Amino acid sequence: MMTDPRPAPEGVDPTTPNVARMYDYYLGGKDNFAADREAAQRILKVFPDTRLSALENRAFLARAVDFLVKEGIRQIVDIGSGLPTQGNVHEVAHRAAPDTHVVYVDYDPVVVTHARAILGRGENVSVLQADFREPDVLFPALDGLVDLDRPVAFLLFAILHFIPDGAKPYEIVGRLRDASAPGSYLAISHARDARPDLTPDALEVYNRATASLALRTHAEIERFFDGYELLEPGLVYPEDWRPDAGQPRFSRTASVGYGGVGRKL
Ligand SMILES: C[S@@+](CC[C@H](N)C(=O)[O-])C[C@H]1O[C@@H](n2cnc3c(N)ncnc32)[C@H](O)[C@@H]1O
Repeated sequence: MMTDPRPAPEGVDPTTPNVARMYDYYLGGKDNFAADREAAQRILKVFPDTRLSALENRAFLARAVDFLVKEGIRQIVDIGSGLPTQGNVHEVAHRAAPDTHVVYVDYDPVVVTHARAILGRGENVSVLQADFREPDVLFPALDGLVDLDRPVAFLLFAILHFIPDGAKPYEIVGRLRDASAPGSYLAISHARDARPDLTPDALEVYNRATASLALRTHAEIERFFDGYELLEPGLVYPEDWRPDAGQPRFSRTASVGYGGVGRKL
């Protein structure tokens, strides 16, 4: 049984595994509690490559953001932004173009508190607490932060697999597309059913966590790009999306997801 040296801050439930804090644990972060680590350990037992996949996902995120800024994007909305870690979106974006406005969106109060404390101090950074599943709240809030008449990039990294079909993720992504100006972008990473024989164990762990898993096939993930031109090399393992020259490669079997970037048609 893992224990915590520090008590949880007021208002934080440390006993229910939290998907943001489990991911923080995969990435080697310290913003997690015993229940998160125990749940994450159970996932690592089933999918030992989850840690590598999380790192590859972050590396893909950084390459995608760098690409978007170099394409001229100056507004980025990162939905399901997660706990601040190394290589945050605004750090990558501002390296190439300091005038890029980055809006971090997450529904988790712990994530938002950390983000406000750590990220919200910077210029051209906003933090918004909102639930992707409530577009009628999300859209008006975004409208005040980004100019939807100018191109914008929406990042949906490792969030859509927490949104079951019943919550209408395709419809909401379609609304993001329809609300954005021509020349806007959508970038996605999404967990897949990498080992159907082992998946029930993973689903069970997440069913007890703050969000359950909705794994999708390649074709199902590709559908999120309807109305977008899916850029080369398409929807691929995240480590295969325009890898940097000399980028260290992890195991070929590591990928538990797919990623891609699309430009609005
Ligand atoms: C696995 S983390 C991904 C973090 C980051 N995007 C990345 O890929 O490195 C998933 C994040 O999505 C957030 N999330 C899950 N469901 C959400 C929802 N319905 N609305 C907003 N955020 C959500 C969680 O709180 C968590 O911070």
